[in-house]
Amino acid sequence: MQTSVVSNADFLATVAEKSDGAALRGDYTHADDQYVVKQDWSAYTEAEHELWRKLYQRQAALLPGRACDEFIDALQQMKAADGIPEFESTSEELFKATGWRIVAVPGLIPELAFFNHLANRRFPVTVWLRTPEEFDYIVEPDVFHDFFGHVPLLFNPVFADYMQRYGQGGLKAMKLGGLENLARLYWYTVEFGLINTPQGLRIYGAGILSSGGEVEYCLKQGTGARHIHLNIERCLRTLYKIDSYQETYFAIDSYQELFDGTAPDFTPLYEKLQHLDTLAANTLLADELELLA
Ligand code: PHE
Ligand code: FE
Repeated sequence: MQTSVVSNADFLATVAEKSDGAALRGDYTHADDQYVVKQDWSAYTEAEHELWRKLYQRQAALLPGRACDEFIDALQQMKAADGIPEFESTSEELFKATGWRIVAVPGLIPELAFFNHLANRRFPVTVWLRTPEEFDYIVEPDVFHDFFGHVPLLFNPVFADYMQRYGQGGLKAMKLGGLENLARLYWYTVEFGLINTPQGLRIYGAGILSSGGEVEYCLKQGTGARHIHLNIERCLRTLYKIDSYQETYFAIDSYQELFDGTAPDFTPLYEKLQHLDTLAANTLLADELELLA
């Protein structure tokens, strides 16, 4: 989920330290210089396919009336209900639809490689699946989060363009010292974003859509969580939760809004943000409207 917040040096150190598999999982020994590996599909066990089916069924049942239509429609077309999918066939379909491809990776990858993939319309998907003990909660992104959560929206042309632009923006932010700010936008849109529709608020964020509990939680009234319209500068200042449900959800009116809002040069924005305080995850500013009230 948190694919974009590990620096290259930190990352390599962490992989080395954790080669016992304690924290950073995955086998990086066969990865190429962009951290791409082969998805060894025949190596998945029947128990893993069965766990995938259970994860899939639980999530799919929660989607109607909660996930956005683009997600539900694309997910159905991906035909991934019967077991851990072979990336290559979905990748072919995705390429025909929006020019994106799926590449297999061992797990979390460094920022530079991650942004490079996005900027070239490649989405990195982790090959390993969580254990049965992690059915409800997992710290690092696994194949279920990456594939089920992220791939469907990449079939939407405007969202797909936004993701590429985000990758380009990430490469630029690395040079400008703006990464911490920019990562918050990824978090609050790609991972935990909501969208306004004529039928009401719907989910498009992958971190929510692959989570058993947060799909219901994020649209409930009275939880104390904020649901406010996305303001990019505000979002870039807002801290987020990595070990609990979010305290603020930002909603957009359309993917076009996301694409247009991130078209300007962010250089002056990163400058400005250096002089502004961060905002706590549960902040509600005076002029902000709670959308679920
Ligand atoms: N347009 C932004 C810049 O010039 C980059 C960006 C793209 C930011 C997409 C967010 C999303 O820095
Ligand atoms: Fe993710």
